[in-house]
Amino acid sequence: MITKGIILAGGTGSRMSPLTKAVNKQLLPIYDKPLIFYPLSILMLAKIKDILIIINKGQLEQYRKIIPNGDNLGIKITYKEQDKPRGLPDAFILGEKFIEKKNVAMILGDNFFYGQNLSSILLNSSKIKEGAGIFLHKVQNPELFGVAKIDKNKKIISIKEKPKKFISDDAITGLYFFDKNVVNYAKKLKPSKRGELEIIDLLIKYKNKNKLRANFIGRGGAWLDTGSIDDYYKTISFVQAVENRQGLKIACIEEIALLNKWINKEKIKRSIKFYGKCQYSNYLKKLLYK
Ligand code: DAU
Repeated sequence: MITKGIILAGGTGSRMSPLTKAVNKQLLPIYDKPLIFYPLSILMLAKIKDILIIINKGQLEQYRKIIPNGDNLGIKITYKEQDKPRGLPDAFILGEKFIEKKNVAMILGDNFFYGQNLSSILLNSSKIKEGAGIFLHKVQNPELFGVAKIDKNKKIISIKEKPKKFISDDAITGLYFFDKNVVNYAKKLKPSKRGELEIIDLLIKYKNKNKLRANFIGRGGAWLDTGSIDDYYKTISFVQAVENRQGLKIACIEEIALLNKWINKEKIKRSIKFYGKCQYSNYLKKLLYK
């Protein structure tokens, strides 16, 4: 089982400027909670308790206000600052000490996942001992993402970042599981033409060794990249519709911690005090009587 996870929550958020001029994208609201709660909840559903959040230089205080150290969730959260966006694989160079030569998961701070069986898909694929695992989801605009072409046996034939010509509509989502070699592979990467280390080049290293596996978030699942204004608002509408229909919250991190038996109800009471009088606290109150 993978026990360590990284959330990459820096970046300039330039596509969402001016919203992101003063506030980091991952701290903006997705309906009733900050965006960062959603990727954090995914790692928690994969039973990952040791989490490194990579943020922009100078934003630590803001992040600590909302997610201090994980104590309220029965997990350990540490932060590391990235001084400029050097690309997604930079997470493994910055996180070398944190990773301690173990297998590690990474999720992009602006990715939203939801769906039936998601927890079991995550738990199954987190069993990897060797190699890397990616999660694919069908999209209508594959040119905006990394994509993977797969054969009938679900084996990966090729992968490409934001292909101009169509090769597949299976997008590579921003959730990755890696074995302990990832740090050394990341260190060997060279920046691309746009001056960043590219996640696709890292994945190609695993693919060339026949060690890249595809997992599928099927039709029952939703994946949204909240990186553009329209997708950001689509995600908000999605969460609002699901939560109001079911009366259940998506990404209530205290609820997941309680279900995982990482915290007791006393901790929930403390969280209610921390958040104050609000709809989110009202939901937490209901958990006390379950
Ligand atoms: O969302 C999935 C896609 O994410 C994948 O399909 C692509 O293969 C992958 O390259 C990536 O593409 P994006 O163009 O969406 O990546 P973006 O530069 O927007 O960065 C994603 C998140 O990572 C965002 O929340 C900012 C953060 N980030 C990014 C970079 C480059 C950092 O924290 N540091 C960085 O250096």
